Amino acid sequence: MAGTKSGQGLGSLFSKLSGIFSGGGGSAIGLSIGSSSIKLIELQRSGKSWRLESWGVVQLPDDALAHREIVNSIAVVDSLKALTSSLKLKSKNVCTALSGPSMMIKRLQLEVPNPKEIQEQVFWEAENYIPFDHSDLVMDFEMLSRSKDSLTDVMLVAAKRTVVDSFMGVISDSGLQPKVVDADFFALQNVYEANYPSTPGESVALIDIGATGTKMVVLSDGIPVFTKDSAMGGRTLTSEIQRQMGHSLEDAESLKLGGAGGIPQEVLDILRVGSENLATEIKAALNYYSASSVGAPVGPIYLSGGCSLVPGLPQVIEEVTGRPVQYLNPFGAIAADPAQFSEDYLRSISALAVIPVGLALRAGS
Ligand SMILES: Nc1ncnc2c1ncn2[C@@H]1O[C@H](COP(=O)(O)OP(=O)(O)OP(=O)(O)O)[C@@H](O)[C@H]1O
Ligand SMILES: [Mg+2]
Repeated sequence: MAGTKSGQGLGSLFSKLSGIFSGGGGSAIGLSIGSSSIKLIELQRSGKSWRLESWGVVQLPDDALAHREIVNSIAVVDSLKALTSSLKLKSKNVCTALSGPSMMIKRLQLEVPNPKEIQEQVFWEAENYIPFDHSDLVMDFEMLSRSKDSLTDVMLVAAKRTVVDSFMGVISDSGLQPKVVDADFFALQNVYEANYPSTPGESVALIDIGATGTKMVVLSDGIPVFTKDSAMGGRTLTSEIQRQMGHSLEDAESLKLGGAGGIPQEVLDILRVGSENLATEIKAALNYYSASSVGAPVGPIYLSGGCSLVPGLPQVIEEVTGRPVQYLNPFGAIAADPAQFSEDYLRSISALAVIPVGLALRAGS
């Protein structure tokens, strides 16, 4: 990104990594600290190609994060250390991401007569849009376009400084080096751009449905023209099973995931209603996007995140939104040793791997 206004030691916030790779090669780690688990991927870059080196997931206790902020750092560090000690990582350089209410994203259109002053102007203008004390925030922006008459389109990103610090803190306390803090939205964008051709005249919606959040970004001609982050996710469905069937949260989660005996019909019925609610929320966001006329109409929808694996969910989203739905494949452009990672295995981890892959790719972009 173009500019960063940050505190000491946070100079690489939201920025592209420079210096991780020298001479176009090396490894980088994409790390997603989610509400339910930590996902880690290591990719090896050689020129313009990528190879999968390591992959791992570790569950987090339910109280480790709240509203996608780290509230139990010790639990996160312990889990992350357990994960890294089980993998043979070549690099320590980590690109991670935030999502949720601690992060704000806003598109601004400004008249910028002198491009050299864009950063100053954007941060000055930010005062009008972000209702927090700016000394508590870390901000960055990216210029999206600039017309001949100096009208400049920028994307402003701000995050709570305490939240950025806590994510960087758990990474360094685990023996890794936090290099970049990014956003789940941009990781989705990266995965799409690395694996799919551009579709002029048609936008795509990329949606990650996690445990406590659904993050949507609409890409129009390669530009993230719309983002939406809601609190609905897999835990909403689990809580509904718990409430309606009177189970503990743990048992409700096991019922949802099925296992050898499959998912009981009563649970499938609850999941169907939950899926319809999720799809309705997605449709409302797409309608809002269409009404705002900021980009081309949305064609296909691409899904990721653990909750996107709920049986039948893609079909429900397709029915409710009227758009074709498929899973986002993060591995199309990444080579993998079949002896270590079979095609079936890669397919089974795809939904969880999207955000980490997008982060590791960002390290080399
Ligand atoms: N096969 C599956 N079927 C249904 N739900 C699943 C399946 N696998 C995982 N989930 C659900 O997906 C959720 C976890 O997804 P994910 O790991 O993407 O979330 P997270 O990154 O931890 O959370 P967030 O991004 O919201 O902070 C959990 O609610 C889990 O129950
Ligand atoms: Mg997640």
